[in-house]
Amino acid sequence: MLDHGGRLRQAAITYNIPIAGWLDLSTGLAPYSWPLPAIPAQAWQRLPESDDGLEQAAREYYQAENVLPVAGSQAAIQALPALFPRRRVGLIEPCYAEHRHAWERAGSAPVSLSGDEIEDMLDAIDVLVMVNPNNPTGRVFPPAVLLDWHLRLASRGGCLIVDEAFVDPTPAHSLAPYTGTPGLIVLRSLGKFFGLGGARLGFVLAEQRMLDLLADTLGPWTISGPARHVGRHALADQPTQQIWRKRMHTDSQRLASLLTAYGLAPQSGCALFQWIPHASATALHRTLAEQGILTRLFDQLSALRIGLPGSETGWARLESALAGLSPEVLCPH
Ligand SMILES: Cc1ncc(COP(=O)(O)O)c(C=O)c1O
Repeated sequence: MLDHGGRLRQAAITYNIPIAGWLDLSTGLAPYSWPLPAIPAQAWQRLPESDDGLEQAAREYYQAENVLPVAGSQAAIQALPALFPRRRVGLIEPCYAEHRHAWERAGSAPVSLSGDEIEDMLDAIDVLVMVNPNNPTGRVFPPAVLLDWHLRLASRGGCLIVDEAFVDPTPAHSLAPYTGTPGLIVLRSLGKFFGLGGARLGFVLAEQRMLDLLADTLGPWTISGPARHVGRHALADQPTQQIWRKRMHTDSQRLASLLTAYGLAPQSGCALFQWIPHASATALHRTLAEQGILTRLFDQLSALRIGLPGSETGWARLESALAGLSPEVLCPH
């Protein structure tokens, strides 16, 4: 199993701080609470059925012709490689490590691409996998560029797979409306923008033939009745979506400014987190953790990913911890 953010129980043990005492900035999930509907008893009692309005709400929210709900986009990440046997795969890295893990488990050896050499490499691969906006760097490739790559791959029977788990705050960056055509697969998640990581709900958007293959692999009843109910409401709740989008952009700017003010200017970021490569990333991570502030350390890249505090108390705690960082940690030699 790969390591991920959000392992608060582990941090509580390592740093001997009770769970309730932590400010968890390690995940990149929205730190606010979505207004959840009451869950009808039937959602618990009956086997879930697909004509309950979830798919329709998703088609409208994503502006996509075909949608397949999955138990978190992670379920699709794990299942997709089996549908592309013996294909040459390229993966833009660094990115969410589960992609490489899944392709390697399926017997493929994805070529690692930085993103800048795709134009030259595209003819040497059949499937290009990428995360847009990227996690953990926040880098965004414009849709027009991706659509061009898709055309080139699809003209040879290839495929572009775009993990858009973090695109909801900036819907104009999404390829969702183009997914009815062959050779384009988009993955979406209700875990990040909607802050519903525990519901385990995501969507695959692609041509129907591809979704049928995937549905067949995943089997029946993959989404629980309560998750379907909550997901349908969240996808249809445009007023909350608009308020959250605005709030996230404001908070993301505030986080970038705060980090910059204390000598940790982010290299990049998106609405849900900032990306800070730093020579002392490990020491910074430890120093903040000792004060009950959990960030996500990428030790091989010597970088931190820091998510949004969800309350004024959280902001004040972060600011006071940043203000207390010693010059030796901030500027080693
Ligand atoms: C880029 C990216 N894609 C997909 C996932 C999986 O999310 P979920 O299964 O909750 O939809 C994650 C989780 O962190 C992620 O960071």
